[in-house]
Amino acid sequence: MFEEAQYFAPIEEHEDGTLKVRLGADHPGFADPEYRRRRDHLATLASRWKPGEPCPTADYTDAEHEVWRVVSEALLPEHRLYACREFLDGKETLGLPNDHIPQLEEVSALLAPLTGYRYLPAAGLVPLREFYGSLADHTFWATQYVRHHSVPLYTPEPDVIHEVIGHGNTLANPRFTALYELAGQASRRVQTEEALEFVSKVFWFTLEFGVLWEAGELKAYGAGILSSPGETEEFRGMTIRPLDLVAMGTTDYDITVYQPLLYAAESFTHVEDVVGGFWAECTDDSIAEMASHTAAS
Ligand code: TRP
Ligand code: FE
Repeated sequence: MFEEAQYFAPIEEHEDGTLKVRLGADHPGFADPEYRRRRDHLATLASRWKPGEPCPTADYTDAEHEVWRVVSEALLPEHRLYACREFLDGKETLGLPNDHIPQLEEVSALLAPLTGYRYLPAAGLVPLREFYGSLADHTFWATQYVRHHSVPLYTPEPDVIHEVIGHGNTLANPRFTALYELAGQASRRVQTEEALEFVSKVFWFTLEFGVLWEAGELKAYGAGILSSPGETEEFRGMTIRPLDLVAMGTTDYDITVYQPLLYAAESFTHVEDVVGGFWAECTDDSIAEMASHTAAS
């Protein structure tokens, strides 16, 4: 089973067609009935969406907008210090609001002239093949719910803040979207579950948690780091290894903690050459060959 399944709360459908999100007892919103009503409501909203329709408008509450404000403000100085140039360029051209949560549809409209990527609304877990495959069509499945207000600085559950502040700012830069597109094409080219898992792990250690060297300083380019003020503050203290496709494609990770092991590229161009080049060419056979090298190392 893929790790991705663990951080999405399971969802049940009622006879009346509404969805119930099953938050675990350790979820910060577990004992907050108002939060649970919001999660059920936003999941139900996304589940009613049909292909071809615009993303549904989420009627965010003042409390939810406040969580966005808190995270945006914390990230403002951190991005300047710790985000790579290409992310900052995307952020500047996209121009997300800091004082309220934009609708997915509004962010898609901002992305249209920049890269053409569009969001699709996800109620919860989107199957891996569908999630990655859709990247090849310049679409990005995104959740719409907001992390619980008690944990603004880090959540193991991908929420709209991660999708829009983390991924949206990268989806605004054509150098990033070329990589997303190649990952999507790779996921459609491979057939075996093993090869798909390898492709998705390389995605995890790069577009989600990648770091790179820029003028002698370690900067983040992964959306999973850059949507979390807590993790953005800490990533320089982690174990940093050089970019290594075989290691990234075969290393297991725990999605519930700050990532203790990161792979650093020498530059953004290095990511494009090595990671983009891998996604552009990989097949079931080439990946099986690469994976066979781990036993020896
Ligand atoms: N930890 C991220 C944040 O706090 C969000 C997140 C949850 C995430 N699960 C993820 C990011 C998986 C990347 C991959 O913003
Ligand atoms: Fe993500």
